[in-house]
Parts: sequence; C-alpha cells; structure tokens
Amino acid sequence: MPKRKPFVGGNWKMNGDSHAAADLARAVGDRVNAVSGVDIAIFPPAPYLTLVRDTLHEHGSNIALGGQNMFDQDDGAFTGEVSAAMLADCGCEFVLVGHSERRHVFGEGDEIINRKVRRALISDLKVVLCIGETLDQREAGRTDEVNEDQLTAALAEISARQMAKVTIAYEPVWAIGTGMTATPDDAQNAHAKIRSVLRELFTADVAAETRIQYGGSVKPSNAAELFGMADIDGGLIGGASLKADDFAEIVRAAMEG
Ligand code: PGA
Repeated sequence: MPKRKPFVGGNWKMNGDSHAAADLARAVGDRVNAVSGVDIAIFPPAPYLTLVRDTLHEHGSNIALGGQNMFDQDDGAFTGEVSAAMLADCGCEFVLVGHSERRHVFGEGDEIINRKVRRALISDLKVVLCIGETLDQREAGRTDEVNEDQLTAALAEISARQMAKVTIAYEPVWAIGTGMTATPDDAQNAHAKIRSVLRELFTADVAAETRIQYGGSVKPSNAAELFGMADIDGGLIGGASLKADDFAEIVRAAMEG
C-alpha cells in the first residue's frame, strides 16, 4: 500500500503584523511553488487571513489557507469568536481544532473540541485535529491511552465518510516550542497506535487513508528522518514555519519522505 500524500502545515500562531504576514506568504509561495506531491497549508492569525489569501492568489500559489481556531456556533452574541463559515468566507479550506495551546492555555476540553470538529465538517472546512500527551502523561507511560481518549472524544458522531476531511496531528505537548522532538521511533510508535485506534473507531480504509502529521519542534535538521517513518505523513510546523527558508526545506523533506 503506497504511503498517503504528505501534508505540511505552517501554524504561525499569534505572531507578526500585516507586513510580515504578506512578506512571509510571498516568500513561502516563491520557495514552494515548484514543489509537487505535497499538500501545503498555512495558518495565519485571523486578522490577516484575507491579506494572505490575496497575496497567495496574486502569486499563483497553490498553498491552502487555514484558520487556527473557530467557535462551534454559526453566528450570534459570542464576542471575540470566529465561526467556521467566516473562515470559509475568508478563503480557508482548513481549520486547526484541539491544538495543545487551545487545550492547555485556554482550557478547551474534549466536549467543545468535538463540537468544533462537527461544526467545521458541516461547514465544509477540513479539520486538522491535534492530539498529544503532556510530559507527565508520557512519563507515566500513558501516551497511547491519552491519544486514544482524545481521538475517541473528538471524533464522536463523525462518520467514516466525513473522515476523508480530517487530518490528525500528533503533537506531544512537551515537544511543542521547546526544541525537544520525539525520536522518529517514538513518534512512529505513537502514529501506528493512532492508526489502529482509527481502525477500531471507523474502518480499515479510514485508518489506511487518514493522514497523521507529526508536530513539535520539527525543523529542517530532523524533518526528513521523521517524515521517512511509515505512519508519519508530514508535519504541523510552528516556530520553523515563520522562516520561509526553513519551512520550504521542511516541505521538501516531506516530498522525499
Ligand atoms: P513548534 O509548534 O513547531 O514550534 O514546536 C508546533 C505546533 O504547535 O503546531
């Protein structure tokens, strides 16, 4: 069975201003325009989505756009929130759900994450669902159990057919923004287990076809080795996605992986 088409996402988080966003979009576009065989998406801060969309468009780039977060309601009195429909209207194809910063800084639990996944899919956005264990959980030997619990909760009431629009990002919390990365073997073991959970929750086809990205301090120096593992289908990149050269190098590593 051939490996799935790799998918690399750049999560810009809450960084930059409008000039930096346009410059970075342009620079990334220039560097990855010739790349084929990898799906690429960038996730700028919400206020710059349309600017980045237009910049990519002007440069004939096929990089997709994604939102970093959304609320689970369509509209109404929810000050400060952004709906899935609004993201789609700004040109987004994807949305991140369940990122560890949403879980741990903003206290989002399994229930709201599941509601967001369901709402995003109804609104025709594709979901990158982030899961992963904390350092305490890893040290207690609970990595696979935490991943299984988060997956099961987040994907409740999602059909096998809808899973065609879901990517999983396995991001060990202790590796995000810390410079520490899971070893390729540890990451592969976690990914293989996640795939077996997808088989139990859905079907063997869903398990075989769902892309599972690795995230957590991916950089040009470790990307190729990680992406070379059998169950790792690209990555979700934070810090290194803010540097066009590094991000492009990581995208190329996915092409070869
Ligand atoms: P990092 O972030 O690459 O800076 O560790 C990854 C992420 O949060 O998606």
